[in-house]
Amino acid sequence: MIYVLNGPNLGRLGTREPSVYGSTTHADLVDLCLTTGERLGVRVEVRQTDAEHEMIAWLHQAADEGADVVLNPAAWSHYNIAIRDAAAQLSGRLVEVHISNIHTREEFRHHSVISAVATGVIAGLGTDGYRLALEHLARFAA
Ligand code: DQA
Repeated sequence: MIYVLNGPNLGRLGTREPSVYGSTTHADLVDLCLTTGERLGVRVEVRQTDAEHEMIAWLHQAADEGADVVLNPAAWSHYNIAIRDAAAQLSGRLVEVHISNIHTREEFRHHSVISAVATGVIAGLGTDGYRLALEHLARFAA
């Protein structure tokens, strides 16, 4: 199983600042990830939450299962040590994805506290970043 975990405000994709995040909705993103999983022959589950405790529980579950994770921590990327500590417990691979290029945006978005515990990071490629992350992880899927 590969978990795709999306943090706060990503449920509002499509209507949320479309000039930054595009017109793809979260439902479209779920479709993209599930279709990609089917094509690659890997099981994919997509979840989104605005609640920190829920994201931490999902990361604990992924850690207990040894699962790989695609994580868009959204705003938590920039300050949330509890999410980082949960991500650090993963034994599978972790690909951090950002739809926008956080490095070309406001200064406070330039640093992610998650990146140091991620296997790799994709930023700025829109929702295509999720597809690329899944293609990468599928190479390691048992
Ligand atoms: C984001 C970038 C973050 O800075 C922002 O808080 C988000 C989304 C992205 O996907 O580009 O909510 O992670």
